[in-house]
Amino acid sequence: MNAQDYAGALAGKVAVITGGGRGIGSAIAQAYAKAGAAVVVAARSSTEIDAVAGDIREAGGTAMACPVDVTRMESVTAMYEQAVAQFGGVDIVLANAGTALKAGNIETCDVQAWKDTFEVNLFGALHTARAAIPHLRRRGGGKILMTGSGSRMRPHPGLSAYATSKLALWMLTQTLALEVQEANISVNELIPGPVRTAMTGFGKATFPPGEWMKEPEDVVPLALYLATQPLVGPTAQSFSLMRRVG
Ligand SMILES: NC(=O)c1ccc[n+]([C@@H]2O[C@H](COP(=O)([O-])OP(=O)(O)OC[C@H]3O[C@@H](n4cnc5c(N)ncnc54)[C@H](OP(=O)(O)O)[C@@H]3O)[C@@H](O)[C@H]2O)c1
Repeated sequence: MNAQDYAGALAGKVAVITGGGRGIGSAIAQAYAKAGAAVVVAARSSTEIDAVAGDIREAGGTAMACPVDVTRMESVTAMYEQAVAQFGGVDIVLANAGTALKAGNIETCDVQAWKDTFEVNLFGALHTARAAIPHLRRRGGGKILMTGSGSRMRPHPGLSAYATSKLALWMLTQTLALEVQEANISVNELIPGPVRTAMTGFGKATFPPGEWMKEPEDVVPLALYLATQPLVGPTAQSFSLMRRVG
């Protein structure tokens, strides 16, 4: 299905998107709003989230910008409080905030950069998912999507921090899915594969030959598909747009 086929499919839903200020998160935020959701666009840069939320409202959608630092639990808790105050609840969460700090090869790596990568990619997602659960329970269920990475399947010299954080995120996804299944909350991983965003130097980073280099909008159909699955739909699953594993 194309994005326009989802018109109204998310009417009445509230979607919270971390890392919504640019790149993949921005494209999905705009698509969820077009599908009828009220969207909370969250990240640290106020300029970027204000611009995305403004674009959504200008196009006739409903959105608010919400500054958040996902590495701080209290910041994430406050984000949901603002979402509920503004839109009445939370139904869909995309834990998408991420970083690909260059920590370097393990022998000589910048250990602090390694830890900082985990703070965003793993602990940020943990905070985002954990603090969402009471709100999703109040709605009788909901969806948590984690933006994963194909890097978790292929060792790449110099990228150990990023790849390891995303591999840990995958186990977090599966475990949480089992823990909240009884509450009709699904938890799945969305792997975009290579996308032209700031994180990849807009496509200049090295990817395995034969991979599909995408624009952020190319990730939208899968994000819409996952957001519109039934409450008893897939959970603990990984959905990928990659063409290569090794
Ligand atoms: N691009 C790819 O090829 C690719 C492939 C696979 C997976 N991914 C994943 O896709 C997700 C989005 O990445 P992208 O490619 O769209 O990169 P991007 O354009 O650099 O966007 C990253 C987003 O995360 C936000 N962010 C970073 N640290 C944060 C923090 N501490 N708190 C709140 N927000 C934070 C950034 O905003 P602020 O800096 O303003 O906070 C930004 O909005 C990431 O999880 C990434 O790992 C990307």
